[in-house]
Amino acid sequence: MGFRKSGLPSSLAEAAAGTGRYYGTAAQIEQVDSQPDLRAAIVRECAWLTPEYSLKWDAVEPEPGTHVFAPVDGLVRFGDTHGMKVHGHTLLWHRSVPAWAERILSEAKDWGVIRRHFSAVLARYGQAIDQWDVVNEPLEPGHRDDGLRQNVFLDAFGPDYIRRALEEARIQAPAARLMINEYGLEYADERARRRCLLKFIEGLKAAGAPLDGLGIQGHLDLGRGTIDATSFGDFLAEIAALGLFIVVTELDVREADRQLPVAARDRRVADAVRRYLDVALAQPAVRGVITWGMTDRHSWLSPSTAGEGLATDTARAPRDRNRGLPFDAAMHRKPMHSAIRESFLAASR
Ligand code: G3I
Repeated sequence: MGFRKSGLPSSLAEAAAGTGRYYGTAAQIEQVDSQPDLRAAIVRECAWLTPEYSLKWDAVEPEPGTHVFAPVDGLVRFGDTHGMKVHGHTLLWHRSVPAWAERILSEAKDWGVIRRHFSAVLARYGQAIDQWDVVNEPLEPGHRDDGLRQNVFLDAFGPDYIRRALEEARIQAPAARLMINEYGLEYADERARRRCLLKFIEGLKAAGAPLDGLGIQGHLDLGRGTIDATSFGDFLAEIAALGLFIVVTELDVREADRQLPVAARDRRVADAVRRYLDVALAQPAVRGVITWGMTDRHSWLSPSTAGEGLATDTARAPRDRNRGLPFDAAMHRKPMHSAIRESFLAASR
């Protein structure tokens, strides 16, 4: 247990646990295995892990019947060794359907290919992983009255595919907590998304769909102004009133101005995170916060550095790299780390 002179917990895991919640990070086992500083920070700070890529359909079954489980096995083993739980991301996502499956879904509209995918993954991980993003990003308001995204699943099976997927997962992993995971729910101009998602979830619950929780991704964007604290907070309360738990599943911050001095950049990121988490953690149904990575060294927000280790990357000018995660590329804590920690410490249980 790491405690500061103040006697307050210094790690994010301990600060979260103090409010009966958890903190974790998305990770790629290749980076965890090859970078001791990153590995040590994850062990010290995290109670949960999300496979950033390796548990997606195109990663686990690149060809029909050819399963690639080693990276997920490695992450599950790493989590088990260090007492961390794993968040199952994600069973169905329109951006991670392998090409061969896309063809079958489009042409044959065969639900069996989905059933076999769920069966293969949940049979292997249904015990080790007990919380799943069953459907990722099903919304795209503006296309249909129900606000659903036009995707290969909707084209093949209609809007009922989400309920069917939840039921398929419940059958294959009866003890797991089943979630829908979505982005774009926190800013003033995202009210339509919040309303649409709430209405859709109300419909799922009314239809008896086995939906236990909602993942709110939390990809903050400094270019979008400030978070609509009242509307976002009301939305979380309405979701909680439906009996769902909530997890902040992919927290990070896209900067708007990387030309500023680093201290100013980090302050803006930390202030946005604090504002967001103070609203989220005021809602008791919010059970955990997972950042989409620990370090600016690896972030989808800096594509040119994603997946590269520090050794090959220190030469990169800091302005190329987004500074939207708790640690910088050299694994030094940043003000965002303090913002998360202090928001947990200030939160009610
Ligand atoms: O591992 C392979 C490597 O072997 C290969 O050499 C390389 C080049 O092709 O690709 C590597 O896989 C990449 C993988 O990230 C791991 O780095 C995939 O191509 C790439 O598509 C994948 O991108 C991920 C993306 O989701 C798509 O799966 C990002 O890391 C990940 O941060 C991003 O995360 C999504 C969430 O799942 C959903 N919410 C939005 C979020 C950001 O887009």
